[in-house]
Formats: sequence, structure tokens, C-alpha cells
Amino acid sequence: MRKTKISGIGHYVPENIVTNKELEKIMDTTDEWIVARTGIHERRWVDSRIGTSDLAVKATEKALDMAGVSAKEVDLVIFATLTADYNFPGSAVQIQDKMGMDTIGAFDIKAACSAFLYALSIGDQYVKTGQANNVLVIGAEIQSTGIDISTRGRDMAVLFGDGAGAAILQPSNDNSEVLSTHIHSQGKYLKELWAELPSSILKPNLSKELLDDGRHFPHMNGREVFRNAVTRFPEVIKEALDKNSLTIDDVALFIPHQANLRITQSVAQRLGVGMDRMYSNIERYGNTTGASIPIALSEAFGEGKIKKNDIVILASFGAGFTWASAAIRW
Ligand code: ACO
Repeated sequence: MRKTKISGIGHYVPENIVTNKELEKIMDTTDEWIVARTGIHERRWVDSRIGTSDLAVKATEKALDMAGVSAKEVDLVIFATLTADYNFPGSAVQIQDKMGMDTIGAFDIKAACSAFLYALSIGDQYVKTGQANNVLVIGAEIQSTGIDISTRGRDMAVLFGDGAGAAILQPSNDNSEVLSTHIHSQGKYLKELWAELPSSILKPNLSKELLDDGRHFPHMNGREVFRNAVTRFPEVIKEALDKNSLTIDDVALFIPHQANLRITQSVAQRLGVGMDRMYSNIERYGNTTGASIPIALSEAFGEGKIKKNDIVILASFGAGFTWASAAIRW
């Protein structure tokens, strides 16, 4: 069986910075509350009429450039997002069109904060089995246009940001390798972190009354999310280590989904890992859902924190609940 490697990575975030102080002007919150509970100081929110697919194109161009691959050579697009430009179809087909790709397979994965690792896991299988040679895996989100930015929605609104990351997967003929991927779900927790509408259970699936109730906005049981996240992150990281007979000490860098700094700190503590090996950029970008891992991977690489042959562990937890990990030799 062939081996898969990540041969290109890139990210893009909108230029518009929204600080906690600016949020104080539009809802009843404080910079102190947000920093103490989440570690977030600022996030990027799009300020013009652009779509998630537009952010994704910019990240994709960088990833293709690093891999030395042209858009025409891509033979599969997997787009991890909760916030496609439209309700349907998914945004992967927009990437096929906007990048001038051939009529290749292109589909979306809707697994919330774990979607990028779910997509990586699928792309890995395509490369390993010889079904594809240049797989584009994207994680991109525009959360800012879909959250309740009034005091009613403040627990969610202060958390989320916009951005995109992309990776190119190719067959490896050296030491670089996606060593393993691990994906999980537990649907009994579906309503602890969800957006209900539009819902095919309801007739009509959307109405003014439903919108007035704010049932189209994301809602979260913060305590339940926290409780499960700090258990599942270490569990799925250990699963990746055990599968590859690795120890915590073998890992150069852990890149968790950027959910909340308090969650990341708690995971680091439970694993016995210093924050110097636990990558965090949530301070600047907030929680970008499906985009957070590829953005963090791209930034960490750009900052020289990942070198050839380093072991990197990616891990996620999010709505579903879903959780996942990947062990990579860079
Ligand atoms: N600004 C000010 N006050 C707020 C805000 C805000 N933005 N949001 C909520 N509050 C208020 C609530 O209304 C509540 O007020 P009340 O006590 O008068 O009713 C109070 O703050 C609750 O705060 P805490 O006492 O800190 O409550 P708790 O200990 O339950 O913490 C929190 C809540 C911070 C959400 C916590 O549960 C948590 O960190 N959970 C993790 C959730 C998370 O980070 N998810 C990430 C997104 S999902 C993902 O990526 C996996």
C-alpha cells in the first residue's frame, strides 16, 4: 500500500480584526470575561460580501504553491465546513469551478470542528489505495455571519472567527507520512452543540416565527462541551500514539482544534505536556471551527515549529459530538 504525505499547506484569514473591546459595544460582555473564559483577544470577521469558498481559494492557492502542484493536477477536493456558501450544494464544487479544475470529484464534510480530520482521513485512504494522486483537503468557515451577535447569543458570539486552511495530500516516497487517522462520534450529544434550522423535521423547515426564536443560531451547553472535550482530546491523542508505538516525548508539536484556551490548557495538563508543545493561536483568531487545525498547522510550519521528520499530532473535538486525531511524520 502507498503512503500519504502532506506536501503543501496554506491558510488565509480575513483582514478585518474584531477585538473584544469592539464586542463590548454590541453586546453585554467584557474583554476581561472573554479573556478569562476563552483566552481569545481578537478574531477575524469578514466585512464584505464574500463566501467561505472565497477564503478557501486563497488558502488553496498557497497550499498548491508549496506542493508545486497546479489546480489542473488536483484529482479530488474534500471541503470540511459547517458554513458552505449555500444551504446546498456544498462548497467543494465551487472550488472545482473557481480554480478551473477538471470535472473531478468534489464533496463537503459536515463534521463541525472535527471535519478537517475526517476529511484528512478520507483523503488519506484515496492516496494510499492509488485512487488519487493530488487530494486537496480544505477546512474553511465564515461563522461571523451566522451567529447571534446580541447579548442573547453572547456565549457563542465571542468564541467564533472566520478563516481557511488547505492541505495537499500526495503519495510519499520518503519518510514523510500520515501515520494514522482516528475518527469517532457520539450522536446522543447532538443537541449540546447545534443549530436546529433549517430542519427537515419541521414543516415549514424555516419560518419567521422560528427565526424570531433564534433557532437558526448555534446553541451550546458550555459545561457539557467542556466536560467531554477535556476527556476526548487526551483519549484520541493517546489512541494515535499507541497505534504508532509513540510516547508523548516523541511528539514535537501537538496541534489541537482551537476550541477554547481553557480546554487546550486542561488537555495539556492531563497529558503532562507543556504549553510550549501545545500549539495555540486562538488568542488572535478565536475558534474557526473546521478551519482551525489547518490554519494552526500552516502557521506552525511557517513559524519554523515543524521540521522534517518531526512527529506532529493533530486532534479535534466538536459538535456531534465528534472527535478525531492524526499522527503525522512531517
Ligand atoms: N460575556 C459575559 N458574560 C457571559 C458571556 C459573555 N460573552 N457569555 C455567557 N456569560 C454569562 C452567562 O450568561 C452566565 O451568567 P449568569 O451566571 O448570570 O447566568 C455566566 O456568564 C456563566 O459563566 P460561568 O460562571 O463561567 O459559567 P460556566 O462555568 O458554565 O462557563 C463557559 C461557561 C465559559 C461557556 C464554559 O462552560 C466553557 O468554557 N465551556 C466550553 C465551551 C467552549 O469553549 N466551546 C468551544 C466551542 S465548541 C468547540 O469548538 C468544541
